[in-house]
Amino acid sequence: MQDILDKLEERRESARSGGGVDRIAAQHAKGKLTARERIEILVDAGSFEEYDMFKEHRSIDFGMESQKIAGDGVVIGSGTVNGRLIFVYSQDFTVFGGSLSETHAEKICKIMEMAMKTGAPVIGINDSGGARIQEGVAALAGYAEVFQQNVLASGVVPQISLIMGPCAGGAVYSPAMTDFIFMVKDSSYMFVTGPDVVKTVTNEVVTQEELGGATAHTVKSGVADNAYDNDLEAIKQTRRLIDFIPLSNKEKPPTRQVFDQHNRQEMSLDTLIPTNPNQPYDMHELIRKTVDEGDFFEIQPTFAKNIITGFARMEGSTVGIVGNQPMVLAGCLDIDSSRKAARFVRFCDCFNIPIITFVDVPGFLPGTAQEYGGVIKHGAKLLYAYGEATVPKITVITRKAYGGAYDVMASKHLRGDLNFAWPTAEIAVMGAEGAVKIIFRNEAKDEEKLAEKTTEYSEKFANPFVAARRGYIDDVIMPHATRRRITRGLRMLKNKDVQNPWKKHDNIPL
Ligand code: HXC
Repeated sequence: MQDILDKLEERRESARSGGGVDRIAAQHAKGKLTARERIEILVDAGSFEEYDMFKEHRSIDFGMESQKIAGDGVVIGSGTVNGRLIFVYSQDFTVFGGSLSETHAEKICKIMEMAMKTGAPVIGINDSGGARIQEGVAALAGYAEVFQQNVLASGVVPQISLIMGPCAGGAVYSPAMTDFIFMVKDSSYMFVTGPDVVKTVTNEVVTQEELGGATAHTVKSGVADNAYDNDLEAIKQTRRLIDFIPLSNKEKPPTRQVFDQHNRQEMSLDTLIPTNPNQPYDMHELIRKTVDEGDFFEIQPTFAKNIITGFARMEGSTVGIVGNQPMVLAGCLDIDSSRKAARFVRFCDCFNIPIITFVDVPGFLPGTAQEYGGVIKHGAKLLYAYGEATVPKITVITRKAYGGAYDVMASKHLRGDLNFAWPTAEIAVMGAEGAVKIIFRNEAKDEEKLAEKTTEYSEKFANPFVAARRGYIDDVIMPHATRRRITRGLRMLKNKDVQNPWKKHDNIPL
């Protein structure tokens, strides 16, 4: 009997050693952790339950029948993060370069199905040379099976992708369909076609890093959300993100004990808005001073910085924060910021997370680049996302709320539940100077008159009371009372129940 038990242990040991000590050493030499080390850090100590450890590929071409490694290049299983269930797959680059075979794909699909059945997030750790070249179409089919599971799981359970090595070709489309993508600087890349193909087709010369490294995707393309210095930091931050989010669409946001009074007053907010309306200020300051313990998990901090998105807590319960950032492009909305915020708002709505919106927006960014780039459709995404969202929505206008951007930013008209304004708010079709230039176009040379009319327009419209008189603003509040007013609002909205009309699914302007 002992023999049999020992044999099992031997088999396990062999599976755990993946592609062998040399390949593990090569992985470490690149500054990367192995698939199993990554899982060990991700889940609570001792909580990992591995499945399909002994699964092998069924390929018989190109000598593959004699090259079988238990597990076939991916480690899958369940575990807990601070006591909450998650599922994980982690591609093992030491086994056939982490390449995806038919059986490798079956393993990924298995935990995705389990995650959907049990209502728990899927964390995918990607480190792979792509489709297993020796398998041909069977590997392509495997990818498509994974894509299909990604689609089905979308909006049911959170899906998070960590890119910790190569992720190229069609392989990029699985992470692309997940809710969040974290990359590791210098050791990960994502692209549809690599530098060699790019050179052949377009004659451009680019490095892997320039084409699809962490900076390219977290600053330029917005494909990835956050970039970290190494595997360890990326995994630690993934654990932190998981703490903020519900495990499935059937759950309310998680709560944790916090030591921050709900009615804490922040007197410094009374002087946050500069006297000069064109002078910027940092919206992060308002966010940090409003939320529990100043703890803010920013999503896409380096992309489309004219809008801020991220998670925080109020009275211990998760909220999604969206805020225009006057420090960048004066807080204008544009293509990238609309896309960024729309996706974030939709994530919050899928997973029952209330949305708090801080508004200081002078309008949409003008120009041919924006129009030709389709700002109409992209701006509509944000409008649509807010309009369809049924979670509690609280909006605070701190300064400018001009034109269409006023409507878009969770206005009362898009079913904002509580719309507050600071006394410094200016809610109008446009700024006073611009408005007067249009209304008095024929008197453009009479500077005195224009100045007089600008003051008149400003006094009439550059305040929150015109909107408040109509009930578009529920109350004009003291900046220092912002936290108290929001926490009370969230308590009041706790049991909010609004349903959208039945439909097969919506048709958001993509
Ligand atoms: C089978 C692979 C593999 C693959 C790597 N390996 N990629 N085996 N299928 N796709 C194996 C290597 O043979 C090697 O085996 C080991 O993994 C490590 O690879 P190295 O090349 O030594 O590592 P490195 O120098 O770090 O380079 C990594 C790499 C390179 C850049 C990923 O391996 C590479 O270019 N691989 C091929 C990438 C590719 O063309 N994939 C198909 C893309 S098309 P040994 O035994 O020597 O350790 C695709 C389509 C998906 O994925 C479509 C979905 C719809």
